[in-house]
Amino acid sequence: MTAKLDIVILAAGKGTRMRSDLPKVLHKLAGKPLVGHVIDTAHALGAAQVCVVYGFGGEAVPQALADDKLTFVLQAEQHGTGHAVRQALPRLGDDTVTLVLYGDVPLTRAATLRPLVDAARGGKLGLLTVELADPDGYGRIVREHGQVVRIVEHKDASPAERAITEVNTGILAVATPHLKRWIGELKSDNAQGEYYLTDIIALAVRDGVEIEAHQPADAWEVLGVNSKAQLAELERVHQREIARGLLDAGVTLLDPARLDVRGSLVCGRDVTIDIGCVFEGRVELGDGVEVGAHCVLRNVKVAAGTRIDAFTLIDDAVIGEANKLGPFTRIRPGTLLARDVHVGNFVEIKNSQIGDGSKINHLSYVGDTTMGKKVNIGAGTITCNYDGANKHRTVIEDEVFVGSDTQLVAPVTVGRGATLGAGTTLTRDAPAGELTLSRAKQVTVPGWKRPVKQKKES
Ligand code: UD1
Ligand code: CA
Repeated sequence: MTAKLDIVILAAGKGTRMRSDLPKVLHKLAGKPLVGHVIDTAHALGAAQVCVVYGFGGEAVPQALADDKLTFVLQAEQHGTGHAVRQALPRLGDDTVTLVLYGDVPLTRAATLRPLVDAARGGKLGLLTVELADPDGYGRIVREHGQVVRIVEHKDASPAERAITEVNTGILAVATPHLKRWIGELKSDNAQGEYYLTDIIALAVRDGVEIEAHQPADAWEVLGVNSKAQLAELERVHQREIARGLLDAGVTLLDPARLDVRGSLVCGRDVTIDIGCVFEGRVELGDGVEVGAHCVLRNVKVAAGTRIDAFTLIDDAVIGEANKLGPFTRIRPGTLLARDVHVGNFVEIKNSQIGDGSKINHLSYVGDTTMGKKVNIGAGTITCNYDGANKHRTVIEDEVFVGSDTQLVAPVTVGRGATLGAGTTLTRDAPAGELTLSRAKQVTVPGWKRPVKQKKES
């Protein structure tokens, strides 16, 4: 039977260089806290337990992550990475293996970590190291006859050791009983007066436990975030990887460098996305969907063949097949557009169902409305859904024609096939099939003159 996996995520540090009151690990990458990415990776590895060691910022970290699948351990004062792991020891199993990850290292692939876990299950210590042209500040990997024998921290290293370019990423995995024993033996007699997790390497070697070092496929997988500049860099790396995945899946991106996905974007065949678009939450684009420049889509499902023109914002909505939206359309939560619906510029739709073939092409507000099929809404139409205290619904049945500049004061129903004359303020239901209008009678005042500007007295 393979040993269960405990994962400890160190996330107690303050991150002084972020210059922020928010704990470092809660700063967002692709719309999700840094530590959230690490937690996702932990789950992807099939962890039996994910233990987050928090400290700076008090309860902010557990509150932000509130999740019953996580164990939280407080490290009230930060006395080093070894001290941090020690806080988690009582929560770890006796016959498990433990993988140590870092809440500020968000982009490590699960595939990179699996060999470390396998090494731990095989009785070795799996260690992730990386070659860096500029190893300044990192712990150096000291090898003898090719074998890793210890790690020396930059501040404790001799000039010869500082010349080593293989560095410690901090990520390691080992059988939990070993870890418990070695952590208990750590001392803080070093340049920083801290308990170094890295000292367990030498203890493993002493106890005859082999160190199996692995390297990530890409160096950015082990980069940590210590500043806003590094956060911005990793955001770009992450977005570039997402864009590459979309391109590989056959999506046309007019510029892969100008795309932001903060969540998941699932695309059908022959989808085209122009520059500057932002996708948040869960977004699905069906076959042949085209998204114009600078659109924002958040938790949206768009069916096949729909075209979304530039500067359109869609939030929590379901968009049917072969629709035409935008440019400059705003679709708000609770909206469902059926098939072949056209929504044009400066139209806002909220919490409404719009039937097949209906058109709302210019300058309108449609809220809390049930609209049938083949309805035509003229420019400047407003559903007055709010009476100052409560919201009311508007019902517009099939094949209604609403003239321009019309207000529908809800609750109100427009019967099937009705026509509303331009400029109507509808306060009572309009019967099916009839023309309803409310307008002051047009008059012409003969001989009327415009006022003229009076000369100022000097
Ligand atoms: C550590 C490693 C070093 C490695 C480097 C990679 C040690 C002693 N050194 O150094 O070999 O090259 O990471 O980035 O482990 N943390 C806590 N509690 C603490 C101390 C740290 O939660 O008491 C967390 C921090 O929030 C941070 C991580 O552990 O996320 C690393 O700590 P840090 O002090 O930055 O270690 P380094 O000095 O960078
Ligand atoms: Ca660090």
